[in-house]
Amino acid sequence: MTTIAHDIKDVRLKEKGVIRTEWALREMPVLRHLMQRYADEKPLQGIHVSGCLHITTETANLARTLKMMGADLVLCASNPLSTQDDVAAALVHHYAIPTFAIKGEDTQTYYQHINAALDHRPQLTMDDGADLVSELHKSRQDLLANMIGGTEETTTGVIRLRAMAGDRALQFPVIAVNDAMTKHLFDNRYGTGQSTLDGIIRATNILLASKVFTVVGYGWCGRGIAMRAKGHGAQVVVCEVEPLRALEAAMDGYQVMPLQQAAAISDFIVTATGDKHVVDAAHFKVMKDGCICANSGHFNVEVNIPALESLAVSKKRWREYVDEYTLPDNRRICLLAEGRLVNLSAAEGHPATVMDMSFANQVLAIDYLVSQQKTLSNDVHSMPKYLDEEVAKLKLHTMGVAIDTLTDEQQTYLTTWQEGT
Ligand code: ADE
Repeated sequence: MTTIAHDIKDVRLKEKGVIRTEWALREMPVLRHLMQRYADEKPLQGIHVSGCLHITTETANLARTLKMMGADLVLCASNPLSTQDDVAAALVHHYAIPTFAIKGEDTQTYYQHINAALDHRPQLTMDDGADLVSELHKSRQDLLANMIGGTEETTTGVIRLRAMAGDRALQFPVIAVNDAMTKHLFDNRYGTGQSTLDGIIRATNILLASKVFTVVGYGWCGRGIAMRAKGHGAQVVVCEVEPLRALEAAMDGYQVMPLQQAAAISDFIVTATGDKHVVDAAHFKVMKDGCICANSGHFNVEVNIPALESLAVSKKRWREYVDEYTLPDNRRICLLAEGRLVNLSAAEGHPATVMDMSFANQVLAIDYLVSQQKTLSNDVHSMPKYLDEEVAKLKLHTMGVAIDTLTDEQQTYLTTWQEGT
């Protein structure tokens, strides 16, 4: 029996979790580089870190890196449906990292797990969606005095934290890892693009070619989803509220229209907006029979599930992650993964290759927060550009890609104004 604190599904899944974590590490060369760099230096020696992250093979490798850096680390799930139970078992029983996460946990257990991670009395927090920071400020204010700072992985969390900072409620500095170019340009676009399609396909096993596939929201995640759906041969429609993004979607070759219009013709509707009730009762009322709705945003609020439940006369679970609602006029609407992020619920989240960069940013952000101890204001801070560029350089190096450099003459030209035609 282990003495490592935990609440996980099943210790017997440990071996599978270890093998899959090691497999993922093969695709994470930048993280491996950082493991080596920090192994002797141990810049986090004895520092308490609590991470509220999706418990996946990639996160396990991030956790191993932080442990090698000397951190005293505890993990909990950042979403009730995203935990990979074999990885949770491996974290506790092989990598000796206290972990509180069970796939399918109810809301009460979810918050118990967050509080278990806070009982660790963190000096640093790592969040994916800002639930840990939010709970710390709402219910565990006694812990604020310990805090050096936090990091935030995702767009939704950064928006929440900026709202906190705007209200002057945020009591320690947070680095918006999401805003690093080497995070959102790759993870949000290529990671979400591939993993969302993966989740939809694993859940339904339905061919996408020729289908009308509507993407709601044309941020970096929506762009990635649209691009990959197009690659599958779907007819892609984009719905967007921001004129510049809508224009970009039209120029990228997609049909752009309001969701009310798209709902009537769509075979698939996928949300990636970060907002609430984006797919609502008015849309269900006109939706094409058999339409499949899925969400790739952080929270399960994008599809108005209570509205769907109250409109429906019956509900049937056809497959794991596929619930079909029948409306009074016999039209059927399917909802995948209970409206939770389909890429992490029905598939395995973003592939390791891309999480390599996201989590390299996390490591460098944590190291930066410690090096800046107490000098940063209680605000949401961008990743310093030199760290973002370091991740890009390391990734290119590990990909075997060499690039050009400016000559002295070119460098000078860029800093002068006298030369013209
Ligand atoms: N977010 C999206 N994909 C992820 C993954 N594979 N691991 C951790 N967080 C993620």
